[in-house]
Amino acid sequence: MMRLILIGLMFSVGVWAQLSAPSDKASLSAGKTQFEIHCAFCHGRGDDGFAANLVSPNLVHAPTDTALVSIIRNGILGTDMPPALGMTEEQMMQVAGYVRSLGRSAPITVAGDAAKGKAVYQGKGGCGGCHMVGGAGGKMGPDLTQIGAMRSPANLRTSIVDPNATLAGGWTMVHVTPKTGAQVNGIRLSEDNFRINLRDGRGRIHSIAKDQTTAITRDLTKSSMPSYQGRLNAKELDDLVAYLFSLRGAM
Ligand code: HEC
Ligand code: HEC
Repeated sequence: MMRLILIGLMFSVGVWAQLSAPSDKASLSAGKTQFEIHCAFCHGRGDDGFAANLVSPNLVHAPTDTALVSIIRNGILGTDMPPALGMTEEQMMQVAGYVRSLGRSAPITVAGDAAKGKAVYQGKGGCGGCHMVGGAGGKMGPDLTQIGAMRSPANLRTSIVDPNATLAGGWTMVHVTPKTGAQVNGIRLSEDNFRINLRDGRGRIHSIAKDQTTAITRDLTKSSMPSYQGRLNAKELDDLVAYLFSLRGAM
């Protein structure tokens, strides 16, 4: 009996480890239909949605097909990637196969020059004052070290010219007026009924008791990132998008 259970266990673990998304024509076509129903809303055709770019042979969260199906089933905790609703196991496998087929298609090319874009990022753009890349930079915005693997070029471009349209969660700017002393502005780190904790533009952490304030305002629909519309010319913008799109991980 015990041996049977063990064999059964080994067998199911074996099958699980070898999970491989189907790539035959019928499955891909079924997967495409599922993708359009369940995923296109956020991922567009794969590379032109507001969510992660899926037209890539290397998906950060899905190095294996097993991980890919697990993401489709469970979503990615703490992000806008939701768990699949109303999909059968077979449909999840088909959609995984379809996503892999996107990664095998021609890689996306961007118009700009990444090296020149890096200069815009470091110079005129002043982006490093708020963002980190590879451990260097500021903490007033999200770490961009892997941003090219997570966002499409179209989404990156919008993030720069219209930050409010692609607002990333967790970066709410708050303005606190204490009963005594000057107003404090910064990114909200946490908040409960009694206190609000924020980090100001110089990196200092403030923990303020709410009963010691006269006003607290939160910019919930407005990014603290300035729009660069009109501040960068078309060429600089193309180059900057090419640079961001080249950021794929630790360097
Ligand atoms: C409500 C919007 C939304 C829907 C619907 C959605 N996704 Fe996502 N997905 C996202 C977001 C946002 C991310 C990026 C998460 C992050 O910040 O890491 C993401 C990430 C992913 C990733 C990880 C990419 C990587 O580089 O690791 C995969 C794979 C993925 N989605 C596949 C799918 C599939 C397949 C479907 C349909 C079954 C789907 N998504 C439906 C929003 C969505
Ligand atoms: C004053 C600080 C500040 C500056 C300067 C700034 N950003 Fe941002 N950035 C933010 C904040 C805060 C967010 C998160 C809120 C949002 O999505 O707009 C953000 C979001 C982003 C995102 C989207 C990240 C995601 O997860 O989707 C990208 C891409 C980006 N910034 C690139 C840039 C580039 C390129 C520059 C320079 C041209 C720049 N930023 C300058 C603060 C800044």
